[in-house]
Amino acid sequence: TNLKMEDIVSLCKRRGIIFPSSEIYNGFAGFFDYGPLGSELKKNVKDAFWKNFVQCREDIVGIDSSIVHNPTTWQSSGHLDGFSDPMVDCKETKLRYRADQLYCAPIIVEEEDSNEEVVVGYVCVMEGNDADMISSATNQAKKLLKEQDKKSSKLKPFVFTDLTQVSEDVMTQVPSPGSGKPTLTMPRDFNLMFQTNVGAMQDASSVAYLRPETAQGIFINFKNVLGTSRLKLPFGIAQIGKAFRNEITPRNFIFRSREFEQMEIEYFIPPGDDVWQPYHNKWISDSKEFLLSVGLKEELMGYDVHEGDGLAHYARACTDITFRFPFGVQELMGIAARGDFDLRSHTEGSGKALDYFDEETKEKFIPHVIEPSLGVDRLILALICSAYAEDEVNGEKRNYLSFHPSIAPVKVAVLPLVKNKEPLVKVARELFEKLQRRWNVSWDMTGAIGRRYRRADEVGVPFCVTVDFETIEEDGAVTIRDRDSTEQVRIPMDEVIPYLSKMIDG
Ligand code: GAP
Repeated sequence: TNLKMEDIVSLCKRRGIIFPSSEIYNGFAGFFDYGPLGSELKKNVKDAFWKNFVQCREDIVGIDSSIVHNPTTWQSSGHLDGFSDPMVDCKETKLRYRADQLYCAPIIVEEEDSNEEVVVGYVCVMEGNDADMISSATNQAKKLLKEQDKKSSKLKPFVFTDLTQVSEDVMTQVPSPGSGKPTLTMPRDFNLMFQTNVGAMQDASSVAYLRPETAQGIFINFKNVLGTSRLKLPFGIAQIGKAFRNEITPRNFIFRSREFEQMEIEYFIPPGDDVWQPYHNKWISDSKEFLLSVGLKEELMGYDVHEGDGLAHYARACTDITFRFPFGVQELMGIAARGDFDLRSHTEGSGKALDYFDEETKEKFIPHVIEPSLGVDRLILALICSAYAEDEVNGEKRNYLSFHPSIAPVKVAVLPLVKNKEPLVKVARELFEKLQRRWNVSWDMTGAIGRRYRRADEVGVPFCVTVDFETIEEDGAVTIRDRDSTEQVRIPMDEVIPYLSKMIDG
């Protein structure tokens, strides 16, 4: 509960899960590298998603589209015109802020009767609905008001959650303390797409973009997939892959980065105003079930239902599944009902009819779509936060990661009790090599056994298999220790794989 982000960041670095990108060159803001354990974890998370939503369902197929599309794609999708965040510059420090990010400045006005300058309030610009930020900003403002305003106690801090609510008038009254000069420019739109040039020419005709979402690769392939499969409505197309956004202020480790991965499904349904709701509800519950199945803590999850003004231009409804990160409750994944916005826009933009022919009714129409969209990296952060655990074993403090076996980077550690008894080591090694063909397993024969258990616990290995003297001299069995309970069971050698298989693969 009192988990801090800096603890997570340093744990990820120490244990080879996630490193800052280009660290030898002092890093590169908004980019990260996954280390030996992190890359396994990430692969497992993506595999679990794919298995759950593609492999185990007959109504969903996958694609893997290119990252760079014909740039007209982004014209049709609305990203060229609309995919931007409001940005403000601080004239003094030259720093840039996303306009919904925390920024506090006193508003100073001249008092009518005395011509004295007093602070009448604060402009607070903040991200989302983070209650801690709001209360800290409000408290700071109150404190300052108390210090500065000698006459009146009725002055209150202004709290704006959205800079677009702040008029030009107010903005020019936001001075940096003492200087009396305005410090912030008015908010303006900043497009988040990364630009590049394709081909040898570096002019306007060669401009292209790195995709800011994987979704559009699905829509532009709608006809290709439909024409080569025997799918009937409702059906879905899934894609996992990199997305890029030139975030103005990447923050909170891998929560908001400039290069990240998404797992998205476009689930096509029949059109009609009363059709989408049950599908939308079903996708919300299926998504939650998947998140629980990979080990997310239910008590840290919640919902955020967007309505009216809070909706993106294309959406009819959107429900976020939220997670309580150490920096506050934030969106983990979104489940949007997008109507026929995308297929219709691409039909208009390309001149190719992205429609569906219903064999039964002999009708042609543009399907509507439900879109569950989940960030791989954001899920990984939530999984690490969920798995972070401390307890006491034999009176000693233990720090471990209780990853669900399906996503644990290392599934099993094989531990020969001693390293100087050849027949024992040989039996353990043979078992290790057998397990290695199925899972990512580790081999550890250095140090006391308790010390080795602890090392395995620290990186979230769910099972330790120990080969001891009895194994080779008496019963041909091994002990399997469970990471979370630290309980041990003794199991005949030839039952090890079926036992672990049940525990790991379900
Ligand atoms: N196709 C819809 C779409 O892209 P979004 O809400 O912009 O919607 C979906 O993104 C998900 O992608 C988010 O819920 C989040 O998990 C992840 N995501 C978005 N921007 C991200 C960023 N800068 N860094 C990490 N993950 C991000």
